[in-house]
Amino acid sequence: MNNINISETATELRDHRIPAEQVPETIIESLSISERERLKARIKQLLNEHNAVLVAHYYTDTDLQLLADKTGGCVSDSLEMARFGTQSDADTIIVCGVRFMGETAKILNPKKRILMPALEAECSLDIGCPIDEFSAFCDQHPDRTVIVYANTSAAVKARADWMVTSGSAVDVVKYLAANHEKIIWAPDKYLGQYVQEQSGVDMLIWQGACVVHEEFKGIELELLRKERPEALVLVHPESPSAVIKQADIVSSTTGIIKAAAELDAKEFIVATDSGIFHKMQQAAPDKTFIEAPTAGKSATCKSCAHCPWMAMNTLRKTVASLESASNEVFVDEDIIQHSRTPIKRLLDFTLAQKKLTGERTPDAGHEPGS
Ligand code: 13P
Ligand code: SF4
Repeated sequence: MNNINISETATELRDHRIPAEQVPETIIESLSISERERLKARIKQLLNEHNAVLVAHYYTDTDLQLLADKTGGCVSDSLEMARFGTQSDADTIIVCGVRFMGETAKILNPKKRILMPALEAECSLDIGCPIDEFSAFCDQHPDRTVIVYANTSAAVKARADWMVTSGSAVDVVKYLAANHEKIIWAPDKYLGQYVQEQSGVDMLIWQGACVVHEEFKGIELELLRKERPEALVLVHPESPSAVIKQADIVSSTTGIIKAAAELDAKEFIVATDSGIFHKMQQAAPDKTFIEAPTAGKSATCKSCAHCPWMAMNTLRKTVASLESASNEVFVDEDIIQHSRTPIKRLLDFTLAQKKLTGERTPDAGHEPGS
């Protein structure tokens, strides 16, 4: 079942995780209640004035999520964030998330103005996959189909055959495997290993990692499960395999929220960014959610369970960006042309799959080994 060529992977791929010094501190905006209310009212007014919509990832500030919901925007995972922009008739989309999300919105909506509260909001996976090195690696393996995760730069997507998200990766790889295709996978090594185990496909896996999910600890999770034997474990597949192995459900952010609402348990241990707890609590108000442990002897993360880049999306910065139309996202025309194909392939694939299977969507989540 496991066809991966380990020696080829080991000799050609260096560690692409980013050093701890490159990870900013997670700084949570501290505001009085009245200041928060004032800023929220101002954002609402600005959205109206500019015919703009707010699209927020589940990991962002709770007030931004509430605003997006109340003003006809959307709060979702990276796949739905991409899709939403294409279906909205707003002139401006303000993307509260990290840079690759703003770039994807621009690629799919080149005529719209895409703003971001923080253009400096990056992603360790994107940083760890520089285009020149990645492109040279792909050139060495012309016989392989190149699949990149959404968490990459527009330039890396332009070099790929397919883009996938956490909620769609296993299904896309299985689909390609049916045509006997061999794969280059980038950049998340844990998600890549997980997809490889689920599909049995021959994959060369780039060695990047998410600085937030990598800090979830297998041994500490085992101890916590002993203390809370009734709790089910929900895990995002960017987590290390020692954590994934203990999961009841492995899924994208959307799949994790669905599982919390649908599974017959009162308590859940959750291995993903704690920003998601707002939507989980909304979906299942009578249930209890516990952060999976990140602290351990080997913990090095400055940002445990909360992405430092997602936290850069503050109310103040959202107001500033809308007021002055600053922090606009631009992507080179040539890159837009080339990166649309791998993104559109995924959007078409997930749409076709939804139609075929009715209820079953890529975000339904997987029980490990299923
Ligand atoms: P989702 O697509 O599951 O929302 O994941 C995006 C992400 O950045 C997780 O860290
Ligand atoms: Fe990137 Fe990890 Fe932050 Fe998601 S949580 S945006 S993968 S650094």
